[in-house]
Amino acid sequence: MKKLLIQLDVDRHPSAFDRIVALDAGADHVLSYGGVTAGDVTALIHGAIFTRGPGDSRHTAAWVGGTDVVAAEALAEAVQKAFFGPFRVSVMMDANGCNTTAAAAVARLASVATLGGARAVVLGGTGPVGVRAAALLAREGAALTLCSRSLERARTAGERLRARFGVDVSPCEAWDEDGVRRALEGADVCLTAGAAGIQFLPRAVWAPHPSLKALADVNAVPPLGIGGIEAGDKGAERDGKRVFGALGIGSLKMKVHRACLAQLFERNDAVIDLERIYDVARAS
Ligand SMILES: NC(=O)c1ccc[n+]([C@@H]2O[C@H](COP(=O)([O-])OP(=O)(O)OC[C@H]3O[C@@H](n4cnc5c(N)ncnc54)[C@H](OP(=O)(O)O)[C@@H]3O)[C@@H](O)[C@H]2O)c1
Repeated sequence: MKKLLIQLDVDRHPSAFDRIVALDAGADHVLSYGGVTAGDVTALIHGAIFTRGPGDSRHTAAWVGGTDVVAAEALAEAVQKAFFGPFRVSVMMDANGCNTTAAAAVARLASVATLGGARAVVLGGTGPVGVRAAALLAREGAALTLCSRSLERARTAGERLRARFGVDVSPCEAWDEDGVRRALEGADVCLTAGAAGIQFLPRAVWAPHPSLKALADVNAVPPLGIGGIEAGDKGAERDGKRVFGALGIGSLKMKVHRACLAQLFERNDAVIDLERIYDVARAS
């Protein structure tokens, strides 16, 4: 029986990236729907769950994506609500790569630093990647400081983290070099998760830092989020710290994306969310 992936994307044009990865990861066909709203989901999911019967439904799966992560979260919720009893298919949400990127970044840091009991700082942390990475770092036992240019936005992100992941983080305002220096006092680990093409952490701050042990950056667009590193750094040692650039993280992200996609077709009731994606990243 053919493996069919129902791609539900909030963007007008469903992501070609997501579709190609799905085909590379073993889906035989991807049925792509763009501009999907939560109100469209039930009919589309009924098409998936009523066609093949519970015994064969593991050969059908759903994917939720798109650049608007908040809208995609609403779609993912609507997908779950459309299932009932045995009438369900496995589903994964990775809008704009937010879950796989956060999972890969934290797994890379965990491979070179002990996160339990560490002090971790996420700079530019209020976006979809930063919030999810903060959740994973906190769940690993790090004392987490989440930074934004605005204390209010950092607090709001912290409230979302508590509500969704049950973790506590310290919100922090850091919008210039002095603010970043203060945020990093006593830090062991730092992730820059800010918008593309913006440097958040200059080399002059991290290179002489007395306690930082590991750094990671998810921005591949110059200038990189961390000054003085290379996008391809994969645990390179620079100034006594282990360093990961966006491409060094991206290679794991792609591996994790494909592995999770393949898992969708192993059963009909998997919900492949941040926590599960992180487990795959740690095991990779
Ligand atoms: N390698 C991959 O596969 C991959 C996949 C997805 C994303 N990414 C990268 O991951 C990073 C995070 O993605 P995202 O979607 O979570 O980011 P985002 O939402 O675009 O930005 C994250 C945060 O950056 C801050 N920011 C925005 N504009 C800024 C500016 N001009 N100056 C300073 N701070 C600014 C904002 O925080 P405040 O307003 O609260 O300060 C924002 O919440 C991006 O660099 C993206 O390119 C990589």
